[in-house]
Amino acid sequence: MSHPIGDVAERAAAGFTAQYGGRAAGRWAAPGRVNLIGEHTDYNDGFVLPFALPLRTVAAADRQDGERWTVWSELSDETITFGPDDVAEPGRVTGWGAYVAGVVWALREAGHLVPGARLAIASDVPLGSGLSSSAALESAVLAALLDLGGLELPAERQPRLAQRAENVYVGAPTGIMDQSAVIRCRGGHALFLDCRDESVEHIPFDLDAAGLAVLVIDSRAPHRHADGEYAARRRSCEAGAKALGVAALRDVTVDQLDAALAGLDDEETRRRVRHVVTEDQRVLDTVALLRAGRVRDIGPLLTASHVSMRDDFEITVPEIDTAVEAALAAGALGARMTGGGFGGCVLALVDTDRADAVAAAVTTAYAEQGFTTPNTLTVLPSPGATRLD
Ligand code: GLA
Repeated sequence: MSHPIGDVAERAAAGFTAQYGGRAAGRWAAPGRVNLIGEHTDYNDGFVLPFALPLRTVAAADRQDGERWTVWSELSDETITFGPDDVAEPGRVTGWGAYVAGVVWALREAGHLVPGARLAIASDVPLGSGLSSSAALESAVLAALLDLGGLELPAERQPRLAQRAENVYVGAPTGIMDQSAVIRCRGGHALFLDCRDESVEHIPFDLDAAGLAVLVIDSRAPHRHADGEYAARRRSCEAGAKALGVAALRDVTVDQLDAALAGLDDEETRRRVRHVVTEDQRVLDTVALLRAGRVRDIGPLLTASHVSMRDDFEITVPEIDTAVEAALAAGALGARMTGGGFGGCVLALVDTDRADAVAAAVTTAYAEQGFTTPNTLTVLPSPGATRLD
């Protein structure tokens, strides 16, 4: 996955100096994420198991007088400035700046006195690949503003605030997974998150010790109607829960599934419900295997998750399905789409010494179909958002 030359933290510091002169007061980093398993379960009060990527977004920042926020990003090499009127209500700043203004808005709305600030943003998290570049940006900015202003907001409450920035200010109806992963993950672990009460358990995910790697394949499929389809899936799930008389689909267990499905008269809703209920169980089963140190054995659960997303939730696209099939045919232990769907990335669990061969097999399959060459990268579970200096 290509990104600008040089270390991302150095690029943020150099960008700060070039834009504003002098040195930043500090640098704050927030990673992208992949979700190991548990897709479209977060907004159903269910379970997810993401881990943070080594790819990060870094904000170099200091305070400035007054209620004024100035932000430069290397991605567009553009500087935006906004003030109190722009964060008085959602939607006034648009484009990438909305994620920054949204955080200022959400902090103010929660009663915080947000300091004026100048920020320079650099990022290795690719945009539009389903690796949570938006949550990484929000979380790096949030961490910077909290520290610069001496504001108190415990880490476990930060994801909701960043999510509000995205849901209300930006207007994307996403769940709590991405911001939770970006802020709360730990190196070497996956984050087992109960999206109902936001309790977490850090599950050891030691790929090296198992001789395994996670290969991330950026499908490079254009995000076709992703926003509208995401919202439509949410509505189906809510309709399913309502018809079944439960607060959320999390409240249906796999043991109750057949009876629940029999009580639904719409075939599409039945498929959506089946995905969510079985996916929650796959997360629990994956966590149980990881707790038992059986990393290799999670492969079939990953693949079953993909099949469920493809056939029941209907959120995959030909590029994604091609990548999964080619990876499995080349010896991956399991493979699945990760993230919201309609494009984005596939992850494959592979023996470390097979990673290159699996990546090559996917590239060949893509060429045969005439798809844009995919980007591939092996990743290890990395730390969540942090202050660098
Ligand atoms: C996107 C959303 C998340 C989650 C996933 C699907 O990444 O931002 O909240 O719903 O899709 O699991």
